[in-house]
Amino acid sequence: MIRTIIVGSGSYLPSKILTNQELAAMVETSDEWIVQRTGIKERRIAAEGELTSDLATIAAERALADAGYTADDIDLIILATATPDHTFPATAVTVQDRLGMHHGAAFDMQAVCSGFVFALATADCYVRTEQARRVLVIGAETFSRILDWSDRTTCVLFGDGAGAVVVEASEQPGEISDRGILTSHLRSDGRHKEKLYVDGGPSATRTVGHLRMEGREVFKHAVSMIADVIEAAFEATGTGPADIDWFVPHQANKRIIDASAKKLGIPQDKVVITVDRHGNTSAASIPLALDEARREGVIGDGQLVLLEAMGGGFTWGSVLVRM
Ligand code: UT7
Repeated sequence: MIRTIIVGSGSYLPSKILTNQELAAMVETSDEWIVQRTGIKERRIAAEGELTSDLATIAAERALADAGYTADDIDLIILATATPDHTFPATAVTVQDRLGMHHGAAFDMQAVCSGFVFALATADCYVRTEQARRVLVIGAETFSRILDWSDRTTCVLFGDGAGAVVVEASEQPGEISDRGILTSHLRSDGRHKEKLYVDGGPSATRTVGHLRMEGREVFKHAVSMIADVIEAAFEATGTGPADIDWFVPHQANKRIIDASAKKLGIPQDKVVITVDRHGNTSAASIPLALDEARREGVIGDGQLVLLEAMGGGFTWGSVLVRM
């Protein structure tokens, strides 16, 4: 059967580091509070004029180089972002153009923090139905542009960044030992849409708006929603926590990650953590963490990797993939 295998990854972080100490000079907070409640020590902030498409293009170029391909080899670009350069066109077409790719198709995907998981699951559908042979899947965000920098309950949590993977079709035996995406599970429930949202938009206010969140409410739902899609992945594949080599969760809050891993029986030493250095980079967090772990030789070929995300909407999802 056809499986969608990951053949390359890349990422990019803006050079400016914003520390908790610097934030404590801007709003009433402290390094101690932020570290204790979130695990975040610092985050990156895009430079003035540095756009989501700029971050995405560098991550994409690095993923292509890692895979040994050029944009000519790609049929489709799916870019997950909640912070596009403009209301339209899709940031994906800007990236497509910047890569010198003038064939195929490119579109954005909007599932906020779950965006990369939604985009990867979508790429898998295109590949397995033979509508695309090779797809560039990107998560890229400049959340610093939609934060209310006077709101201490949100501005300390997020950061900017981008990550990308190249996936392609591969004929595999159709077993659990196959390389590639073994299963994916996506969910959303719009009843929760006001718990994490941006209070502006072209149709609603004609403005961009700022991120608003009922943090405690999001936290309350996060662990059970994460467990729901991970249990679905285990059930669909007959696997369990003992089979997982690496857990690469969305990096929103170290406490959410720890609680999810504990609930699912995934040991701490199998969990990839970047939230301490990146903060919550929304759709970029998983491909950033995945790329870092691959480049450091932590995640290697043949290993079983569990991806999971939960975010605004609410949206949540999981992908189980053998590298
Ligand atoms: O990507 C997916 C979406 N996002 C998430 O997954 C985030 C989910 N939520 C969270 O991570 C946590 O709820 C937060 C980190 C946002 C907050 O942690 P918490 O333990 O739930 O704290 P809390 O909201 O219950 O606030 C506790 C106290 C409050 O003071 P009072 O009411 O107890 O006097 C807040 O006003 O901490 C206060 N507080 C702060 N204090 C210092 C809130 N933000 C800050 C801050 N610095 N930055």
